[in-house]
Amino acid sequence: MREVSHRAKASKPGRRAAPRTAAARRSSSRAGARSAGSTQRRAAATSVRKLIERAAKQLDRAGVFFGHGTDNPWDDAAALVWYALALPDKVTPRTYERKVNAAGQAKVAALIERRIRERIPAVYLTGQTWFAGMPFNVDPRVLIPRSPIAELIEQRFVPWIDPARVKDILDIGTGSGCIAIACAAAFPKAKVDGSDISPEALEVAATNVRRHEAGRRVRLVKSNHFSELRGRSYDIIVSNPPYVGAQEMRQLPPEYRHEPSLALAAGPSGLDSVRVILGEAGRHLRPGGVLVVEVGNTETAVRRAFPELPFTWLDFERGGGGVFLLTAEQLNAASRGNAARRAHRVTRYRNVR
Ligand SMILES: C[S@@+](CC[C@H](N)C(=O)[O-])C[C@H]1O[C@@H](n2cnc3c(N)ncnc32)[C@H](O)[C@@H]1O
Repeated sequence: MREVSHRAKASKPGRRAAPRTAAARRSSSRAGARSAGSTQRRAAATSVRKLIERAAKQLDRAGVFFGHGTDNPWDDAAALVWYALALPDKVTPRTYERKVNAAGQAKVAALIERRIRERIPAVYLTGQTWFAGMPFNVDPRVLIPRSPIAELIEQRFVPWIDPARVKDILDIGTGSGCIAIACAAAFPKAKVDGSDISPEALEVAATNVRRHEAGRRVRLVKSNHFSELRGRSYDIIVSNPPYVGAQEMRQLPPEYRHEPSLALAAGPSGLDSVRVILGEAGRHLRPGGVLVVEVGNTETAVRRAFPELPFTWLDFERGGGGVFLLTAEQLNAASRGNAARRAHRVTRYRNVR
């Protein structure tokens, strides 16, 4: 199951189930009764594998949207079946052949029905997802972790920085805490600040810090970008900020409505948050430090808005993109250049007068 860039998927129009008439609803509830009866009859013969196959077909037919931790009907169905039947994390081929009784089948059916009817992303129903190989608690107070930055963390940001020199890391907009906590695991000697403006998100992040016993090295801070981090400096600043523009927000598939809009919406063109980060990160990076930011398919807008910045756009083996990297030196050189241009404009203006 690979983490999928939500904004890359978000740009595609969502597929929706056809509107249902009253007659269709009556006929479907009769079909539902028939299928409940046949479920009872088939109960003894149904295996975990068959249950997943059946659920995956239902999800596919219903046209639900994938891209919140799973990217296909099979993975989505498997996550729900695993959760409903409380199957073990350690999977063997025999797990798939286990027999499922009528009660187990009814639990799966109820979850699949909620997934389809309410368009709730599967991992909000199960309350857990995976990021950088680690499990995280999730609920609608936080964005569902799926950033391709996971891959970079697993590689300890090599070749962009020497991991041995990394002492302090900042994750801006930490949400569930997934990036901050995965960074703490990847850099066992580093301290990590995870900041977020949302107190609700920080409550969820705190449960994950406890879950991973990371409290000695991960500090959660309620902060509007850098507002509560004055005077602090870092070797790595990483962020998956909100970056969805207003028009794209209106077109998102219904699954996204279950996520906090604070985690997605970033003004008319999706640049509100990234603009603040680019403006202030240089002051908080140590020499040789790096800034890594996911902007998804707002990449084009970012390139256009900041032509003076020499972004490196990163490639990912597991897919996803729209993540840039800048060094402290590049950021500071650009801000010196901007200051010089501003001074030049003021001088020209005075000469004209
Ligand atoms: C796209 S989510 C990323 C969550 C998490 N880092 C991840 O990758 O799954 C963006 C996060 O930024 C937070 N956020 C939004 N505006 C912010 C601001 N002005 N300052 C700090 N955090 C902010 C949101 O509450 C949300 O948790």
